[in-house]
Amino acid sequence: MITVGAYAKINLYLDIEAKRTDGYHDILSVMQTVSLCDEIKIERTECGIEVKNEINIEKERDLAYRAAAAFFAAAGVRGGARIEIKKHIPMGAGLAGGSADAAAVLRGLNEIYLSPLSEDKLLGIALTLGSDVPFCTVGGTKAIRGRGEKIADMPKMPDCPIVIAIGDDHVSTPEQFSALDREFNDFLEYKPQSDRIEAISEAFSAGNANIGDDLYNIFEITARYSPEIKNIMKKNGACGTLMSGSGSSVFGIFRTDGDAESAANELKSLGYRAFLCHPTEI
Ligand code: C5P
Repeated sequence: MITVGAYAKINLYLDIEAKRTDGYHDILSVMQTVSLCDEIKIERTECGIEVKNEINIEKERDLAYRAAAAFFAAAGVRGGARIEIKKHIPMGAGLAGGSADAAAVLRGLNEIYLSPLSEDKLLGIALTLGSDVPFCTVGGTKAIRGRGEKIADMPKMPDCPIVIAIGDDHVSTPEQFSALDREFNDFLEYKPQSDRIEAISEAFSAGNANIGDDLYNIFEITARYSPEIKNIMKKNGACGTLMSGSGSSVFGIFRTDGDAESAANELKSLGYRAFLCHPTEI
């Protein structure tokens, strides 16, 4: 049996290049995995796929189950798997929790079955499961384009405390994309702020995680998130705050663990869920 971490992602930059004819959008993003993670135990069995999850979700909609089924369909190995997921990443929050679980199942099964699938093949399967799953399969600091499948290396984000917080809002990603389509006339004349990717890259190369001025998420224009979370983070010394993905979680980048802890504690005292974490590779 092995235990794999399914790491949450945050978007340090998220913008849109174009609306596509297949209903998706070509995005531009800088994604980062953080140490907030679900724990996934995977055991090799004789046959069949069994997924034990704390959430009540039918097999067909469970990305972890679908990832395992896709792995066995592609890998041509005999056997099965028992998968147990302990959730910590809030769901429907813009943190790619379900995608991270699917990616960890793909990586974990490939490991216990002694790598029948190449990384390219794994990434191809990942994209059939969801747009964020390819990034979650590789993790780290990456520049992302296309639906989410074009992944380029970036200088690693220097270590720093990050607080992620969320209220009660559950967000529907397709609805948020539609809201942006209405706001920006289907992106026919829109120009993304792509120079921010270079600015973030330069800061990270110089060992600087303080990228407050270059953080940007187009979804903040239409999505709902709590401005109070941002205010509390800033009051406690955050050098930058941003909503992640299509929301509604908000993260803050801090200079010291002490400031980050104060922010997390104040947020929790007000009823928010708050997590102190760090950038991580997977
Ligand atoms: O790929 P995934 O299943 O995560 O996408 C959920 C929905 O989000 C899609 O059906 C689409 O409406 C929207 N989406 C998009 N462009 C992307 C990713 C997602 O329009 N690059």
